[in-house]
Amino acid sequence: MEYRNPNEVSGDYKEMLVRLMTRQIYAETATAEVFGRAISSAPNWREKELAAEFAAEEARHSRGLFNLLTDLDEDPEAIIAGRPDAGEFWGIDLDNWLDIAVFNFTVDRAGSHQIMEYRESSYVPWADSQEEVLADEEDHYDNGVENLKEFAKDPEKLAEFQTVFDRVLPNCIKRAFGRLEGPDNDFCLEHGLKRNKTEAIVNRYLEEMRGHMDGTGLTFPPLAAFDAIKCELAGSTRDILLSLQR
Ligand SMILES: [Fe+2]
Ligand SMILES: [Fe+2]
Repeated sequence: MEYRNPNEVSGDYKEMLVRLMTRQIYAETATAEVFGRAISSAPNWREKELAAEFAAEEARHSRGLFNLLTDLDEDPEAIIAGRPDAGEFWGIDLDNWLDIAVFNFTVDRAGSHQIMEYRESSYVPWADSQEEVLADEEDHYDNGVENLKEFAKDPEKLAEFQTVFDRVLPNCIKRAFGRLEGPDNDFCLEHGLKRNKTEAIVNRYLEEMRGHMDGTGLTFPPLAAFDAIKCELAGSTRDILLSLQR
């Protein structure tokens, strides 16, 4: 089943659709604010310029969701007002460039893996609008990977990157991907609001990340760091994390 118009959706489907879109507009608006602050905290003009560019792109992604939610008779301003402060939302320090570099490599990319699901959504207006969003996100991630490689050249800086990464990644997996199983997941799969199980999406994300970490010296946080914040992990996900430890 596919829905091409806002007036075709109702009931439980619409409710779940709005919940997923709320999650995305939270992420897009919070990320716009992160990059906005990064204009000040970045160490050089090249990075400041990129931060400004990325902030504008995240604002455009937010606008897309804003319009889609309006078409569904929701109040996006009220929705956005319900989100925690951007730094608190992602568990990072917005005035610290290192936190922002880790964010770009870690958290922003987790969002992209969710958007890959939304691009295939049974709600076509949403699916169609995500192609452009993903193209922008590729650039953000390229910059995140480049920054990691820059940090990795200096063992002291890499160690600092690792400390922040150990804190941010478990929180990111817990927040960005949500629960592994449950009725909400089943509903999304049955109605084409997502195409893959959470386990598969998380694993795809981590395997991509591992590909970029390989050879830099950066390792996955110990499993204890995930258990400490009660981040649910499938057995197959634990195996990926265990495959690159210090
Ligand atoms: Fe975005
Ligand atoms: Fe992004």
